[in-house]
Parts: sequence; structure tokens; C-alpha cells
Amino acid sequence: MLRLGVNIDHVATVRNARGGAYPDPARAGALAQACGADGITAHLREDRRHIMDSDIDKLMETLTIPLNFEMAATDEMQAIALRHKPHAVCIVPEKREEKTTEGGLEVAREENKLAHFIAPLRDAGCRVSIFIAADRPQIEAAHRIGAEVIELHTGAYCDFHAEGKFDERDQEVARLTEMATFAHSLGLEVHAGHGLTYDTVQPIAAIPEIKELNIGHFLMGEAMFVGMENAIKEMRRLMDAARSV
Ligand code: PXP
Repeated sequence: MLRLGVNIDHVATVRNARGGAYPDPARAGALAQACGADGITAHLREDRRHIMDSDIDKLMETLTIPLNFEMAATDEMQAIALRHKPHAVCIVPEKREEKTTEGGLEVAREENKLAHFIAPLRDAGCRVSIFIAADRPQIEAAHRIGAEVIELHTGAYCDFHAEGKFDERDQEVARLTEMATFAHSLGLEVHAGHGLTYDTVQPIAAIPEIKELNIGHFLMGEAMFVGMENAIKEMRRLMDAARSV
């Protein structure tokens, strides 16, 4: 079955707008868990613009489904991950000035550094996932450094859809499909995410090699209108329908 990882970062965005403790991302995690999420994703950014250290503490204490801890490849984040030993660690590129994670990690360019960086995380029992573009050299490099999982960046595909560039969008789906098959053939587990909505999820959910989708911003936005349970259930329904065709 295709797993749904629910990213709760933007509950923290709303909380931080007022600088208090409400709404609590750990409460959102517990609710998403109760509504059928298969995992919870949270990105502790260097600048702590949304998720904070105390949120990770609380999520680790309270969740019974896996936490996918997203982080940049820095010593500080590695130490935090090694302290918590979450089920999965997803390594993402991070730029201070970006609104969200814009591209995939340049694994091929930093292969040695990343191989050394992920080794202790693997030794601690974390599943290491690398967030990359659907690009063969990046996939090959992720495999060589010893990652067990890659997460393919679906942001470009979603942007083409939103801009009405349907030829480019369909080419991007073809590329994601081909690269998911390639990564799977190397023995990597394939995940995907970024920017997915009800309108864009199905062509990605239909790719058989993809085992997990990580979805946040749209689901949290939709939860404001229809509630978390309805938002997650509808996303699940669309994912399952795409898979059963
Ligand atoms: N996967 C990764 C690696 C991400 O960095 C993000 C955004 O934090 C997501 C998935 C979820 O993206 P979105 O919030 O656009 O659904």
C-alpha cells in the first residue's frame, strides 16, 4: 500500500505567527495519526522558522507512527537526530532565503561528505532518505553513499501544473516515473513529495515503485476549511484510487 506521510510544519508556521504555544504541531501529529496518516514528517530548519526543537521532543514522545525527521546536512542537525534516533531522517538542501525547499540535494557533488555524514545516522538505526531531483546521476550517487531511501522532488511537476504548462508537466511525470523505476532497480525505496494537492497527487500515486508520499502545505491549508480528518481521508481516497487503476 502507498503510505501517506503528513508534514505538520505549517501548524508551527501559524503558531509562530503569534509567538505563543497555540496551535501545537504535536497535537496535529496526534490527530493526523488518528485520521490514518502512516507517518509524520517535520522539518527542523536551521532558522527554526516553523518547527522548533521542543516540537521534535514532543513528537518523539507522543507519536506511535514513525517520525520522518527532515534536516539539512549540518553537524547541529546530525547531533539532534542522533539524540532522538527517529525512524527516518530525510536529508534536504536548505537555503536561508528560500520560502520552501526549492531543489533536491546535490548528492553527486558532495558524495564523500554525505557518505560520512549519513554513516552514523545509519549506525544509529535511522532509515536515511535523500531528497533529490529525478535525475539519474543524483540517484546513482544516493545509492553509492549508502542511502536506503530517496525522495523524489515533485515541486517542478506541481509548478508546471499550476502554471498550465501541461506538456512540461506530463514530461516531468514521465521523468519521475522513469527515475522511480531506475532507483527501485538499484534497490532503493522510493518516496516522493513537495507541492502535492488533490489535483496533482494521482499521477504520482500511480507510479508503482513509489512507496510513500509526503504531503504538508496543501493538507494543512485544506484542514482549515474541512478539518484534518476530511483533508487526510480525501487525500488517501485519491491516492488509493490512483493505485487501484
Ligand atoms: N518532502 C520534503 C523533503 C519536503 O521538504 C517537503 C516540504 O517541507 C515536503 C515533502 C512537503 O511539501 P509540501 O509541504 O509542499 O506538501
